Amino acid sequence: MINKITTAIAHPNIALIKYWGDLDVDLHIPVNSSISMNLDGLFTRTTVTYSSEITRDDLFIDGQPASEIAQKRVEYFLDRFRKIYKISGYFQIESASNFPINAGIASSASAFAALSLAVTDACGLSLSEADLSRLARLGSGSACRSIPGGFVEWQAGYNHESSFAFLIASPSHWCLVDCIAIVDTEEKETSSRQGHELAQSSPLQQARIMNADQRLDECRFAIMSRDFDLLARVVELDSNMMHAVMMTSNPPLLYWKPATISIMKSVIEWRMAGIPVCYTVDAGANVHVLCEAENSGAILNQLKEIPGVLLVLEAGPGGAATLEIRN
Ligand code: PMV
Repeated sequence: MINKITTAIAHPNIALIKYWGDLDVDLHIPVNSSISMNLDGLFTRTTVTYSSEITRDDLFIDGQPASEIAQKRVEYFLDRFRKIYKISGYFQIESASNFPINAGIASSASAFAALSLAVTDACGLSLSEADLSRLARLGSGSACRSIPGGFVEWQAGYNHESSFAFLIASPSHWCLVDCIAIVDTEEKETSSRQGHELAQSSPLQQARIMNADQRLDECRFAIMSRDFDLLARVVELDSNMMHAVMMTSNPPLLYWKPATISIMKSVIEWRMAGIPVCYTVDAGANVHVLCEAENSGAILNQLKEIPGVLLVLEAGPGGAATLEIRN
């Protein structure tokens, strides 16, 4: 009788160069490569039970049976996993995150990264980091970037084999801090999955894709040389370009709340006053305000003063997805 229980932990990541739009919708092959930083302190912890006594896949989130949408999404992912790795049998999955889900902090990224690691270990498979990243991508595109640690690049590729993420700099390379200003904790109305499909309806998407590689090179260079000014320029530009595509899609997508704009304006003012700081926003209303560790205390305090900010989280560069060792 098979009976194995495995727990894995993975961090969400903030995209510094964004993924928006797919070349292959089903495999989540993106139209452009992207770069992210894993977020330390925030995590999803997922326990997988693999037993011959389990007769269907069952997903529990925070101790409760998952919604039908989440359950179906995980079943679809597990079906593909079983097919690729010739696995039979079903799984019980218990997942919990320590941050608000579905609110622009990519909980699906940490969730599918943790699930990929836990489910492969439960089946006795020991995959390379690249193979784990490919597998996590099938659950949620950006999940492939939550497998390696630190600063990560996702090479877009053109098929399942060529599309995976790898580390470009370890977490200790640069004490960058993401001050996450939460202005909304509700589930967003349009999922990023639906958003990716809308991207090509924007007349701006082709222009965004056309020079994405240049922004990718600048961002990688800024990270490698710890050049905050260059990072700030390219990160804000890339975020603004993605949101311009969102707003000009058909139908249009506008994830921002009034407080999102207040924060962005404040960040620009602080930078003009000489404080090295920049913002980036994923598919949600919350704003990720990036700075170096020496300035994070003051920025966190200033963010808390902005009307509409409910909570500010702080995260440095996080490590790779890991298995939790049982005693
Ligand atoms: O992986 P998905 O389908 O949740 O898409 C993520 C999209 C963004 O967060 C907006 C950008 C990114 O690169 O993470």
